[in-house]
Amino acid sequence: MLQNNNTSVLVGTDACAPALHVMEELLKVVQQLSATHDLQAVMDIVRHSVRELTGSDGATFVLRDGEFCYYAEEDAITPLWKGLRFPMEICISGWVMRNRQPTIIEDIYHDDRIPIDVYRKTFVRSLAMVPIKTNDPIGAIGCYWSKVCQPTAEQVQVLHVLADTAAIAMDNIGYQESIASQARQLEEAIDGTLLTVAKMVELKDPYTSGHQRRVGILSYDMACELGWDKKRCEMLRRAAIVHDIGKIGIPGELLTKPSKLTPQEFGLIQTHAAMSYDILKDVNFLMPIAKIILQHHERLNGSGYPHGLTGEQILPEAKIIAVADVFEAMTSHRPYRPAPGMDAALEELLRNKGVLYDSVVVDALVRLVKEKNYCLPE
Ligand SMILES: [Fe+2]
Repeated sequence: MLQNNNTSVLVGTDACAPALHVMEELLKVVQQLSATHDLQAVMDIVRHSVRELTGSDGATFVLRDGEFCYYAEEDAITPLWKGLRFPMEICISGWVMRNRQPTIIEDIYHDDRIPIDVYRKTFVRSLAMVPIKTNDPIGAIGCYWSKVCQPTAEQVQVLHVLADTAAIAMDNIGYQESIASQARQLEEAIDGTLLTVAKMVELKDPYTSGHQRRVGILSYDMACELGWDKKRCEMLRRAAIVHDIGKIGIPGELLTKPSKLTPQEFGLIQTHAAMSYDILKDVNFLMPIAKIILQHHERLNGSGYPHGLTGEQILPEAKIIAVADVFEAMTSHRPYRPAPGMDAALEELLRNKGVLYDSVVVDALVRLVKEKNYCLPE
């Protein structure tokens, strides 16, 4: 066994077949994998083995999650993409899974399939990637080198054996259940973070405490009423939970001012939409949450802000949040005024239906309230 900087290296002398000691190590790995009962253990064994048996500088274990590649585990000299999801069409593991074949890339800077912006921040220069289950890929295993190099046939062979063994081990443990539970945990963590952020905004403006959360619930329910698929409804709810996040940059005394605002003060408050966008624009939410929030004060006829967008220029998600925002605000008490109430809120929305607010969205809310006795939770 040769020692590399950070990992031990097992390499064969024959370029066409794994050497005996590599085979022995592989057999041990196969035995370990057959005795594992959970996905995390499979991924841990594989990522360690990939580095040890190929002598590479990094290894990733990628799971297919619908149309996304989930970089579930890694073992590398410096961090790569653990915990991130990328659309299948933009990452190399997606290419490997869609084309059901391995790939070797000697120099990532000379391959069109590589999203260079994502790789530039990493040590990676060369890579090899194989699908897990070639006929119907459920994931991929990759190994990476920090220098330009051509992986040997033996190294690729080792990757194939590990991928095949991982596939069997994953079948044995019912990996789909594990992926679902990991995804649930991740979503719960995202929700927790967003709610915390929402509360931080509300600390500045306690009068509107719970406003964003309730707009989130109402937006979700309206999207369901419109027949949107559950995932899209869920992402909309998340966007709505932080739709006023930019208010964190507005002076508290302005947000809570009980008397009428001057035009200058109102102008300052209006900047919260663009500030929300700035805060969230670089966060990868798999949905244009920042753009949706930027548009939540736009109105169909172009009278909204910040850009005076009209009709189809406004995202459907932003149109729903706009209606939910008005409805929630008008049905909630404020210390300086009683709630105008549900009837007044519906009247305002119906009067401006098709002018300020999207007709289909307003109709969905009216159906919920009038026909289904919808009530917003406290
Ligand atoms: Fe707002």
